[in-house]
Amino acid sequence: MILENVSDFTHGFLHRKFNPFGESELLRCETIGDRVELQYRAKIAAGRLQNMFINRAESDCDNMTACFDYPYHWSNTDDRIKHFLFTLPKNSRENRHIFIFYVSPTAIKMPLIGPRIPQWLMHRMMQAQRWITLQPLLGQDVWVLKREQEGWERHWNRPAPEFSPVVNAFQDLTIRKWEDYLQRTQSDTNTDDGRVHLPSAPTEAAPTEAAPTEAAQ
Ligand SMILES: [Fe+2]
Repeated sequence: MILENVSDFTHGFLHRKFNPFGESELLRCETIGDRVELQYRAKIAAGRLQNMFINRAESDCDNMTACFDYPYHWSNTDDRIKHFLFTLPKNSRENRHIFIFYVSPTAIKMPLIGPRIPQWLMHRMMQAQRWITLQPLLGQDVWVLKREQEGWERHWNRPAPEFSPVVNAFQDLTIRKWEDYLQRTQSDTNTDDGRVHLPSAPTEAAPTEAAPTEAAQ
């Protein structure tokens, strides 16, 4: 899921061209109720091009709180760069993901000009950033997740080793919420003959672990 991907900083090699996070260290990963809270020390927008436009005079933009706030995802870096992500299911194997990015005006600077830039110019810069960096970057994640999805559909009954504690925590919460849903709906689907019909539960032939196909701002 792209929800896991945006919180798992162990796949920096995939994004080596853009380098959106560098020198990352996971300081905390804690499940509290329906939330998985994370604390990272990581240099955000570490790529050479992005770094030229980030004003690190006030703070280094390297202290990130991220949260899988089921079913949403958000992050906050030094109160200067934030994102909110929600998922729109399309069918049993595809989702559409909608990102909203917030960047404080004080977090942006223009090389040779500095941090105080006119609103219209900042707006243009953010628009350009979407097409130059964000869309291609998220496209890399979508490409990989599609391959993962295909692999899982073909070998769904084989062990899938996962070394990231973040991904494991996200998947545990997702599975728990799915099981809660089945339990809640089970009484409604009991039939007179004692059989239970589960509502659109995943089957061996049609697994439901979904991979994103689109990422839109
Ligand atoms: Fe990624």
